[in-house]
Formats: sequence, C-alpha cells, structure tokens
Amino acid sequence: MVHWTETERATIETVYQKLHLDEVGREALTRLFIVYPWTTRYFKSFGDLSSSKAIASNPKVTEHGLKVMNKLTEAIHNLDHIKDLFHKLSEKHFHELHVDPQNFKLLSKCLIIVLATKLGKQLTPDVQATWEKLLSVVVAALIFADSENLATEERKAITSVWSKVNPEEVGHEALIRLFIVYPWTQRYFSTFGSLSSSTVIARNFKVQQHAAKVINALTEAIRNIDNLKASFSDLSKLHFQKLHVDPENFKIMLFNVLFFLQLLGKTLIITLSEKLGSEFSPQIQAAWEKFMALVIDSLSRQYN
Ligand code: HEM
Ligand code: HEM
Repeated sequence: MVHWTETERATIETVYQKLHLDEVGREALTRLFIVYPWTTRYFKSFGDLSSSKAIASNPKVTEHGLKVMNKLTEAIHNLDHIKDLFHKLSEKHFHELHVDPQNFKLLSKCLIIVLATKLGKQLTPDVQATWEKLLSVVVAALIFADSENLATEERKAITSVWSKVNPEEVGHEALIRLFIVYPWTQRYFSTFGSLSSSTVIARNFKVQQHAAKVINALTEAIRNIDNLKASFSDLSKLHFQKLHVDPENFKIMLFNVLFFLQLLGKTLIITLSEKLGSEFSPQIQAAWEKFMALVIDSLSRQYN
C-alpha cells in the first residue's frame, strides 16, 4: 500500500483548503480540451467544444469539472483507500467510456498547471512533489488493471502461448531488441561491458544471463497471476530505489516481449476456443496486453 507521511497529508489538506473546486475543475478540463484536443472525442454529448470560446461558455464543462474534483476530494479524505474508492469508476472509464489511460496523465498534468496558476510560488517543489504523488496514485487507481478482469479464456491464452515458446529465447531476443531499438536503455547496464552493436549485444553473456532473470520473473508472474503485486514487490523496490529505472522502460521491454511472441505467432499452433482464435489473434494479443498492463502496474507500485 502507498505510504503517506504526516507532512504529505498536511500538505495535501492545506492546498486543498485553498482551492475553489468548481473553478479548478473547469480550468483543468478546459486546458485538457484546448491543449490536447483529441480528448474532446470522449465528450460528444457535451455539445460544442470546438474553440476556447465554446469551451468557456459550455455549462457541461463546469458541471463535469466539479464531478472530477468531487471524486478527487473523496480521494484526499481517504488517502489510504484510493484504489478501492476508484474501482467502479475505473471500470466505467475502461469498459463503458473506453478512455485511453494515457489521458488520465494528461488531465493530471493540467491539474498541476492549474494549481500553479492558483498558488504561484506557494507551490514549492515539495508541495508539487506531494500533489504529483497524489495524482499519480489516483491515475494508477483509475487504470483498470486487476487480475480479476482476466477471463478464464484469457488466462488460458497466456499460459498456452508461454508453454509453446522457449521463454529464454523470447527474453534474450526482447532484451537484444531493447538495447538496439531503444539504445538509451543501455545506460542502466554500464556493468555489462560493450553493447555497441547488434553482434556484440547478441554475444554478450551478461545480456543472456540477465534475460534469463527477467524471464524467470515473468514465468513466475504467469504462474502467480492473482498475486502479482506481492510477487513483484521486491523487484519494484529494486528498480525504483536502487536502479532508478524510468518506468516507461517497463512498457518498452514488455512490448518487445509481445512483439517477439507475435513474430513467432505464425509458427505457434495455439488451439483455443473459437472466441480467441488461433495463432496470435487480436484476442490473444488483447489478453497478453492486459497481462502486461498488470505486470507494469505491479512493477511500478513503488513509484507511486
Ligand atoms: C465521467 C472522474 C479522467 C472521460 C467521469 C465521472 C467522474 C470522473 C467522477 C462521472 C461518473 C459518473 O457519472 O458515474 C474522473 C477523474 C479523472 C478522470 C477523477 C482523472 C483524474 C478522465 C479523462 C477522460 C475522461 C482523462 C477522457 C479524456 C470521461 C467521460 C465521462 C467521465 C467521457 C462521462 C461523461 C458524461 O457523459 O457525463 N469521470 N475522470 N475522464 N469521464 Fe472521467
Ligand atoms: C535487474 C526483472 C525491466 C533494469 C533485474 C532483475 C530482475 C529484473 C529479476 C534481477 C534482480 C536481482 O538480481 O535481484 C525485470 C522485469 C522487467 C524488467 C520482469 C520487465 C519489464 C527492466 C528495464 C530496465 C531494467 C526495462 C531498464 C531499462 C535493470 C537493471 C538491473 C535489473 C539495471 C540490475 C542488473 C545487474 O546489474 O545485474 N530486473 N526487469 N529492468 N533490471 Fe530489471
């Protein structure tokens, strides 16, 4: 569970007391729609959002801004239970509204900017850090990532694909691709020696050894799908506190794993229900993407 110090709790409350919720909500949403105009596509029922003027005079923007801020108020008053508090809302944003989770981050950026306009220099780096922590916990709670949401068929798709590949090969190939296609990721591995070309990387024993470690962790995760948070707790701590890995890299690494599975897809004979199809069908990809989202969520726990 995310830990909140007394200072953080006090900081959140002090800032909160200074805010006019309707104003902050309206301004944050207005910025979302103007700065990231593609977000308006989710709000077709709001009528005209095509210009700053239209947005400013749209009563639904104010109304909705207040709804968002009221939910945030609940979070502030229940800091230790944010995940539970947002469960229904995250389900709604995922299943009903189909909101791309990236957008939650955009709205929280807009909220921080609005706080800056309201508080000026009172928004010291410490206050900013505390509020960014609050919003990142809220965003994590809004992202619909729960192993309960994996249907039996989806679980089967994940274990079945994994049983048809050589996991060590997948891990090795994914790590090689990580270093070649996303070369900035090499900076975390200065102890691995030269990673200067594809041939050198492919031959580097430490790369192979490390791939095996990562893949063992993933295999364990597949075996333990309902308990990911606990099994990744130490790894999350290690990557956050000691290795200082930017969590964006987890997404890239797991995308590489998925990409390589997809490459192998044609040669894998996957016999699952008709609903999921065979080979690496879009449905099987969707099941894997959900699983990867769970792994990312668990690995990123300590970052919140
Ligand atoms: C609805 C909260 C981010 C799209 C709602 C509702 C709340 C809420 C409380 C009303 C739910 C209900 O009436 O049952 C939040 C919070 C957010 C957030 C706290 C982030 C901090 C976003 C983002 C988008 C989005 C980023 C899309 C870009 C929607 C839509 C609705 C909705 C389309 C339904 C609006 C309607 O037709 O009334 N949200 N939301 N939300 N949200 Fe979010
Ligand atoms: C170490 C898992 C992604 C950087 C490790 C270890 C495991 C692991 C099991 C070994 C821990 C130990 O020896 O106790 C994973 C998993 C990932 C992942 C499951 C899934 C996405 C990443 C990414 C980076 C990274 C994307 C950086 C771009 C490191 C570094 C070490 C490490 C630098 C220490 C390596 C060493 O010096 O031996 N990781 N990792 N990890 N990881 Fe990750």
